[in-house]
Amino acid sequence: MKTINEFKISKESNKPISVVTCYDYWSALIINDTDIDAVLVGDSAAMVMHGFDTTVNAEVEMMSYHLAAVKRGLTEKLLIADMPFLAHRKGDQYAIETVDKFVKLGANAVKIEGAGSNVATIKHIVDSGVPVMGHIGLTPQSVNSIGGYVLQGKNEETSNQLINDAKALEDAGCFSIVLELIPAQLAKEITESIRIPTIGIGAGSYTSGQVLVLHDLLGLSKSFNPKFLRKYLNGYELIKDALNRYDQEVKLKTFPGEKESY
Ligand code: KIV
Repeated sequence: MKTINEFKISKESNKPISVVTCYDYWSALIINDTDIDAVLVGDSAAMVMHGFDTTVNAEVEMMSYHLAAVKRGLTEKLLIADMPFLAHRKGDQYAIETVDKFVKLGANAVKIEGAGSNVATIKHIVDSGVPVMGHIGLTPQSVNSIGGYVLQGKNEETSNQLINDAKALEDAGCFSIVLELIPAQLAKEITESIRIPTIGIGAGSYTSGQVLVLHDLLGLSKSFNPKFLRKYLNGYELIKDALNRYDQEVKLKTFPGEKESY
Protein backbone atom coordinates (compact mmCIF):
# COMPACT_ATOMS: atom_id res chain seq x y z
CA MET A 1 0.00 0.00 0.00
CA LYS A 2 1.48 3.30 -1.04
CA THR A 3 -1.32 5.84 -0.95
CA ILE A 4 -4.06 7.02 1.37
CA ASN A 5 -6.59 6.11 -1.33
CA GLU A 6 -5.87 2.46 -0.64
CA PHE A 7 -6.72 3.08 3.05
CA LYS A 8 -10.15 4.30 1.96
CA ILE A 9 -10.67 1.40 -0.45
CA SER A 10 -9.67 -1.08 2.27
CA LYS A 11 -12.40 0.16 4.57
CA GLU A 12 -14.97 0.20 1.77
CA SER A 13 -14.09 -3.37 0.82
CA ASN A 14 -13.80 -4.54 4.42
CA LYS A 15 -10.12 -5.47 4.05
CA PRO A 16 -8.26 -4.97 7.36
CA ILE A 17 -5.26 -2.61 7.31
CA SER A 18 -2.01 -3.57 9.07
CA VAL A 19 0.27 -0.83 10.40
CA VAL A 20 3.50 -1.18 12.34
CA THR A 21 5.88 1.34 13.83
CA CYS A 22 9.46 1.58 12.61
CA TYR A 23 12.37 3.79 13.64
CA ASP A 24 15.45 2.55 11.79
CA TYR A 25 16.86 1.54 8.41
CA TRP A 26 17.32 -2.20 9.00
CA SER A 27 13.81 -2.73 10.31
CA ALA A 28 12.47 -0.71 7.38
CA LEU A 29 14.26 -3.00 4.90
CA ILE A 30 12.57 -6.03 6.48
CA ILE A 31 9.13 -4.42 6.69
CA ASN A 32 9.48 -3.32 3.08
CA ASP A 33 9.56 -6.99 2.06
CA THR A 34 6.46 -7.93 4.10
CA ASP A 35 2.73 -7.65 3.41
CA ILE A 36 2.32 -4.94 6.10
CA ASP A 37 0.31 -2.07 4.62
CA ALA A 38 1.73 1.05 6.24
CA VAL A 39 4.50 2.22 8.54
CA LEU A 40 4.37 4.76 11.34
CA VAL A 41 7.48 6.50 12.57
CA GLY A 42 5.86 6.90 15.96
CA ASP A 43 6.91 9.25 18.72
CA SER A 44 7.09 6.00 20.71
CA ALA A 45 10.67 6.20 19.36
CA ALA A 46 11.40 8.30 22.45
CA MET A 47 10.55 5.33 24.69
CA VAL A 48 11.48 2.37 22.49
CA MET A 49 14.71 3.67 20.97
CA HIS A 50 15.86 6.20 23.56
CA GLY A 51 14.60 4.76 26.85
CA PHE A 52 12.54 7.77 27.98
CA ASP A 53 9.56 7.12 30.26
CA THR A 54 7.04 8.86 28.00
CA THR A 55 6.70 10.16 24.44
CA VAL A 56 6.91 13.82 25.50
CA ASN A 57 10.68 13.65 24.98
CA ALA A 58 10.28 13.12 21.24
CA GLU A 59 11.43 16.26 19.44
CA VAL A 60 11.18 17.31 15.80
CA GLU A 61 14.91 16.64 15.47
CA MET A 62 14.59 13.13 16.93
CA MET A 63 11.62 12.32 14.69
CA SER A 64 13.45 13.66 11.64
CA TYR A 65 16.47 11.48 12.33
CA HIS A 66 14.34 8.33 12.60
CA LEU A 67 12.11 9.26 9.66
CA ALA A 68 15.09 9.78 7.35
CA ALA A 69 16.60 6.42 8.36
CA VAL A 70 13.30 4.59 7.80
CA LYS A 71 12.76 6.28 4.44
CA ARG A 72 16.13 5.03 3.20
CA GLY A 73 14.90 1.44 3.65
CA LEU A 74 11.23 1.81 2.78
CA THR A 75 10.07 2.16 -0.81
CA GLU A 76 6.88 0.14 -0.93
CA LYS A 77 4.76 1.35 1.99
CA LEU A 78 2.76 4.36 3.01
CA LEU A 79 4.96 6.23 5.49
CA ILE A 80 3.36 8.23 8.30
CA ALA A 81 5.30 10.42 10.74
CA ASP A 82 4.12 11.38 14.20
CA MET A 83 3.98 15.07 15.06
CA PRO A 84 5.90 15.14 18.36
CA PHE A 85 4.73 16.66 21.63
CA LEU A 86 3.41 20.23 21.18
CA ALA A 87 4.75 20.60 17.62
CA HIS A 88 1.20 21.29 16.40
CA ARG A 89 0.48 23.61 19.36
CA LYS A 90 3.15 26.20 18.64
CA GLY A 91 1.10 27.97 16.00
CA ASP A 92 0.19 27.05 12.43
CA GLN A 93 3.49 28.40 11.12
CA TYR A 94 5.55 26.01 13.27
CA ALA A 95 3.16 23.13 12.55
CA ILE A 96 3.44 23.70 8.79
CA GLU A 97 7.23 24.04 8.97
CA THR A 98 7.41 20.72 10.82
CA VAL A 99 5.07 19.02 8.35
CA ASP A 100 7.11 20.50 5.47
CA LYS A 101 10.28 19.01 6.97
CA PHE A 102 8.68 15.58 7.47
CA VAL A 103 7.24 15.44 3.96
CA LYS A 104 10.60 16.43 2.45
CA LEU A 105 12.21 13.64 4.49
CA GLY A 106 9.81 11.18 2.88
CA ALA A 107 6.62 11.09 4.96
CA ASN A 108 3.42 10.62 2.96
CA ALA A 109 1.29 11.73 5.90
CA VAL A 110 1.54 12.92 9.50
CA LYS A 111 -0.28 11.73 12.62
CA ILE A 112 -1.53 14.19 15.20
CA GLU A 113 -2.85 13.29 18.65
CA GLY A 114 -6.09 14.73 19.97
CA ALA A 115 -9.10 16.57 18.57
CA GLY A 116 -10.84 19.64 20.10
CA SER A 117 -8.66 22.70 19.66
CA ASN A 118 -6.28 20.74 17.38
CA VAL A 119 -8.95 20.33 14.72
CA ALA A 120 -8.37 23.76 13.13
CA THR A 121 -4.63 23.06 12.75
CA ILE A 122 -5.36 19.60 11.37
CA LYS A 123 -7.71 21.14 8.78
CA HIS A 124 -5.04 23.71 7.88
CA ILE A 125 -2.50 20.92 7.28
CA VAL A 126 -4.98 18.85 5.24
CA ASP A 127 -5.93 21.96 3.23
CA SER A 128 -2.21 22.48 2.59
CA GLY A 129 -2.11 19.13 0.81
CA VAL A 130 -0.72 16.86 3.51
CA PRO A 131 -2.77 13.86 4.66
CA VAL A 132 -3.36 13.68 8.42
CA MET A 133 -4.07 10.62 10.53
CA GLY A 134 -5.96 11.49 13.72
CA HIS A 135 -5.37 9.80 17.07
CA ILE A 136 -7.93 9.68 19.90
CA GLY A 137 -8.69 7.60 22.98
CA LEU A 138 -5.50 7.30 24.97
CA THR A 139 -3.23 10.01 23.61
CA PRO A 140 0.16 9.25 25.20
CA GLN A 141 1.49 12.81 24.74
CA SER A 142 -1.16 13.87 27.28
CA VAL A 143 -0.19 11.19 29.81
CA ASN A 144 0.47 13.81 32.48
CA SER A 145 -3.04 15.24 32.26
CA ILE A 146 -4.71 11.85 31.76
CA GLY A 147 -2.88 10.47 34.79
CA GLY A 148 -1.54 7.24 33.29
CA TYR A 149 -1.94 4.74 30.47
CA VAL A 150 -5.52 3.84 31.29
CA LEU A 151 -8.58 2.74 29.31
CA GLN A 152 -10.48 5.71 27.86
CA GLY A 153 -14.16 6.14 26.98
CA LYS A 154 -15.43 4.08 29.88
CA ASN A 155 -18.62 6.07 30.54
CA GLU A 156 -21.36 7.56 28.39
CA GLU A 157 -20.01 11.09 28.55
CA THR A 158 -16.44 10.23 27.53
CA SER A 159 -17.53 7.74 24.89
CA ASN A 160 -19.90 10.31 23.33
CA GLN A 161 -17.01 12.79 23.37
CA LEU A 162 -14.82 10.32 21.48
CA ILE A 163 -17.55 9.70 18.88
CA ASN A 164 -17.87 13.47 18.38
CA ASP A 165 -14.08 13.85 18.20
CA ALA A 166 -13.90 11.18 15.50
CA LYS A 167 -16.60 12.96 13.47
CA ALA A 168 -14.80 16.31 13.87
CA LEU A 169 -11.53 14.74 12.67
CA GLU A 170 -13.31 13.22 9.68
CA ASP A 171 -14.86 16.62 8.89
CA ALA A 172 -11.42 18.24 9.18
CA GLY A 173 -10.25 15.89 6.41
CA CYS A 174 -8.29 13.18 8.29
CA PHE A 175 -7.79 10.11 6.11
CA SER A 176 -7.91 7.73 9.09
CA ILE A 177 -7.94 7.77 12.89
CA VAL A 178 -5.97 5.76 15.43
CA LEU A 179 -8.16 4.58 18.31
CA GLU A 180 -6.00 3.76 21.32
CA LEU A 181 -7.02 1.89 24.46
CA ILE A 182 -10.81 2.12 24.33
CA PRO A 183 -13.49 -0.57 24.75
CA ALA A 184 -14.05 -2.71 21.65
CA GLN A 185 -17.76 -1.82 21.47
CA LEU A 186 -16.97 1.90 21.46
CA ALA A 187 -14.36 1.37 18.73
CA LYS A 188 -17.06 -0.45 16.73
CA GLU A 189 -19.49 2.43 17.21
CA ILE A 190 -16.88 4.99 16.14
CA THR A 191 -15.84 2.89 13.13
CA GLU A 192 -19.46 2.59 12.02
CA SER A 193 -20.21 6.28 12.52
CA ILE A 194 -17.48 7.60 10.16
CA ARG A 195 -16.47 6.79 6.57
CA ILE A 196 -12.68 6.94 7.08
CA PRO A 197 -10.82 3.88 8.44
CA THR A 198 -10.03 3.47 12.12
CA ILE A 199 -6.75 1.86 13.15
CA GLY A 200 -6.86 0.30 16.60
CA ILE A 201 -4.33 -0.37 19.31
CA GLY A 202 -5.93 -1.85 22.40
CA ALA A 203 -9.30 -1.10 20.79
CA GLY A 204 -10.52 -4.62 19.95
CA SER A 205 -11.26 -6.25 16.63
CA TYR A 206 -13.99 -4.05 15.10
CA THR A 207 -11.66 -1.32 13.81
CA SER A 208 -10.69 -1.07 10.13
CA GLY A 209 -7.12 -2.08 10.95
CA GLN A 210 -4.54 -2.50 13.69
CA VAL A 211 -1.27 -0.85 14.64
CA LEU A 212 1.38 -2.26 16.96
CA VAL A 213 4.79 -1.06 18.03
CA LEU A 214 7.33 -3.20 16.14
CA HIS A 215 9.43 -3.99 19.22
CA ASP A 216 6.31 -5.02 21.15
CA LEU A 217 5.07 -7.48 18.54
CA LEU A 218 8.57 -8.91 18.21
CA GLY A 219 8.60 -9.53 21.97
CA LEU A 220 11.78 -7.55 22.60
CA SER A 221 10.67 -6.44 26.04
CA LYS A 222 10.40 -8.97 28.83
CA SER A 223 8.42 -6.65 31.06
CA PHE A 224 5.93 -4.95 28.69
CA ASN A 225 2.92 -7.26 28.63
CA PRO A 226 -0.33 -5.29 28.30
CA LYS A 227 -3.55 -7.24 27.69
CA PHE A 228 -3.89 -5.90 24.12
CA LEU A 229 -0.47 -7.09 22.98
CA ARG A 230 0.17 -10.30 21.06
CA LYS A 231 3.86 -11.17 20.76
CA TYR A 232 4.62 -12.84 17.43
CA LEU A 233 8.18 -13.70 18.42
CA ASN A 234 10.03 -14.18 21.67
CA GLY A 235 12.61 -11.69 20.42
CA TYR A 236 14.10 -11.08 23.84
CA GLU A 237 15.03 -14.75 24.39
CA LEU A 238 16.05 -15.38 20.77
CA ILE A 239 18.43 -12.42 20.68
CA LYS A 240 19.80 -13.15 24.14
CA ASP A 241 20.46 -16.80 23.16
CA ALA A 242 22.21 -15.73 19.93
CA LEU A 243 24.45 -13.33 21.85
CA ASN A 244 25.26 -15.95 24.47
CA ARG A 245 26.11 -18.52 21.78
CA TYR A 246 28.44 -16.00 20.13
CA ASP A 247 30.06 -15.21 23.49
CA GLN A 248 30.50 -18.91 24.25
CA GLU A 249 32.01 -19.71 20.85
CA VAL A 250 34.45 -16.80 21.12
CA LYS A 251 35.53 -18.07 24.52
CA LEU A 252 35.73 -21.70 23.35
CA LYS A 253 37.70 -20.43 20.34
CA THR A 254 35.27 -22.23 18.00
CA PHE A 255 34.50 -18.89 16.32
CA PRO A 256 35.89 -18.01 13.89
CA GLY A 257 36.39 -21.43 12.33
CA GLU A 258 38.03 -22.50 9.07
CA LYS A 259 34.99 -21.37 7.08
CA GLU A 260 35.08 -17.86 8.52
CA SER A 261 38.85 -17.44 8.07
CA TYR A 262 40.90 -16.22 5.10
O1 KIV B 1 3.92 6.47 18.61
C1 KIV B 1 3.31 5.41 18.39
O2 KIV B 1 3.90 4.33 18.33
C2 KIV B 1 1.87 5.46 18.20
C3 KIV B 1 1.15 4.19 17.98
C4 KIV B 1 1.09 3.40 19.21
C5 KIV B 1 -0.20 4.40 17.41
O3 KIV B 1 1.31 6.53 18.24
